[in-house]
Amino acid sequence: MYDFIKDPTLYNLARGPLVWIAFIVFIGGSIYKIRELVLLAKGERVVLPFIDLKATLRSLLHWLIPFASRNWRNRWPITILTFLFHICLVFTPILLLSHNILVYESWGITWWTLPEGLADIMTFVVVITCIIFFLRRFLAPEVKFVTFSSDYLILAISFFPFLTGFLAYHQLLLPYKTMVILHMLFGEIMLIAIPFTRLGHMFYFFLTRSFMGSQFALWHSRDW
Ligand code: HEM
Ligand code: HEM
Repeated sequence: MYDFIKDPTLYNLARGPLVWIAFIVFIGGSIYKIRELVLLAKGERVVLPFIDLKATLRSLLHWLIPFASRNWRNRWPITILTFLFHICLVFTPILLLSHNILVYESWGITWWTLPEGLADIMTFVVVITCIIFFLRRFLAPEVKFVTFSSDYLILAISFFPFLTGFLAYHQLLLPYKTMVILHMLFGEIMLIAIPFTRLGHMFYFFLTRSFMGSQFALWHSRDW
C-alpha cells in the first residue's frame, strides 16, 4: 500500500504552503470580519456615537484582570481555569522553542523562548482545562442547557494542536513523523477557524466590552 507518511510531500506541504495559507487566512479573515462588524455598527445610529474611550478601557481592565468583575468573583473556580487556559493557550505557541526554531530556519529571526519544562506544563494545562470545560458542558445541567454543537467544536479545535504537539515532542503514541504532520494540520485548522467560528471572540471580546462599557456608562452604571 502507498505509504503517504514516508513520502515527504505531505510533510513539506504542511510545513510550507499550508502554514502560509493558514496565516494569510487567519490575518486576512480576521481583518475582514472586524471590518464587517464595524461597518454594521456604523449602520446603527445608536452604537458608534456613544462609544466612550474611558468607559471602554475601564470595562476592559475589569474583564481582563481575574476577579476584577463581579461575574469573575461569583464563579471563581471557572475564572481560575479560564485565565489559566487562555494564558497558556496564547503564550505557549508564540514562545515555544520548537516554533521559534522553525521561524529561525525560515526567516533568521528569534525571540525569547520558554524553558522546555515550563512549555510542557503550559501545554498540559491547556489539555486538562479543555477536558474540564468539555465535561462541564456535558454534565452540568445549567451549562448543557445553553451548549450547542459549535461549543464542542471550538473546544476540539483548541484541544488538538496542544495534544498532538505534546505527543509529537515526547514521541508518544504514533511515529514522530505522523504525529508532527497531524500537529501541523491541526494547528493550521485552528488558525483558519479563528475568524470564521466563535473563536473570533479573540477579537470580538474587545469590541463587545467597548460597546457594553459605553452603554452602561450612559446609564451611569457599570458593566462589571
Ligand atoms: C502553523 C503551523 C504549525 C506548525 C508548522 C507547528 C510545528 C510544530 C513543531 C515542529 C513542534 C515540535 C515537535 C518537536 O518538538 O519535534 C510543535 C510543537 C508544539 N506546538 Fe506547534 N505548530 C503549528 C501550530 C501550532 C498551534 C496553532 C499551536 C497551538 C495554538 C501549537 C502548539 C504546539 C505545542 C503546545 C507544542 C508542543 C509543546 C511541548 O509540549 O513542548 N502549534 N509545533
Ligand atoms: C486573546 C484574547 C481572548 C480573550 C480576551 C478571550 C476571552 C474569553 C472569555 C471571556 C471566555 C468566556 C469564559 C467563561 O465563560 O468563563 C472565553 C472562552 C473560550 N475561549 Fe477565549 N479569549 C481569547 C482568545 C482565545 C483563543 C485564541 C482561543 C482558541 C483559539 C480561545 C478559546 C476559547 C474557548 C474554547 C472558550 C470556551 C470554553 C468553554 O467551553 O467554556 N480563546 N474566552
